[in-house]
Amino acid sequence: MMSSKVQERDLIVSKIKDGIVIDHIPAGRALIVLRVLKLKGGEGRVALVMNADSRRLGRKDIVKIEGKELSNDELNLVSLIAPTATINIIRDYSVIKKFQVKLPETVKGVVKCRNPKCITNQPREDAVPTFRVLHLDQPILQCQYCGTYLTIDDINAQLTGER
Ligand code: CTP
Repeated sequence: MMSSKVQERDLIVSKIKDGIVIDHIPAGRALIVLRVLKLKGGEGRVALVMNADSRRLGRKDIVKIEGKELSNDELNLVSLIAPTATINIIRDYSVIKKFQVKLPETVKGVVKCRNPKCITNQPREDAVPTFRVLHLDQPILQCQYCGTYLTIDDINAQLTGER
């Protein structure tokens, strides 16, 4: 039953049968969420809803993914750029699991170190950029190889191609 207006508005994109709905993404972040999850359009069906009405956030984005499995570790990466996001696992049209994304302990292979001398930036080396997540006022990433810090702004800029 579609009782509330919010649900009717969400249906600009239909409900999915089986897959993952990432809800409560801050408005404007849906495309960055796809980049963090490395969804480049090659696999699965993906639907985006941008600027949906949200009681909690005012406006929110929603990403719906069918036909591609993602682990909890992969999904938790979303917390770096969308800390308010909720993950809904859908089976046969029902939400069978719902959880709030939480910061992972490490982030591997998603963003690059900004130190050009870091071993992870040497083409001849096979070092995958790996960062420890430090919880300060905001989360900060620290390169496991050279100790360089990346802020959330650095991560956003890299993933949106602004740097
Ligand atoms: N959804 C979907 N396909 C389904 C079931 C749900 O796309 N078969 C979407 C809904 O449109 C919503 C999200 O998954 O965006 C969560 O669904 P639900 O838990 O039913 O909504 P709410 O109760 O509004 O969620 P919350 O309390 O987390 O705000």
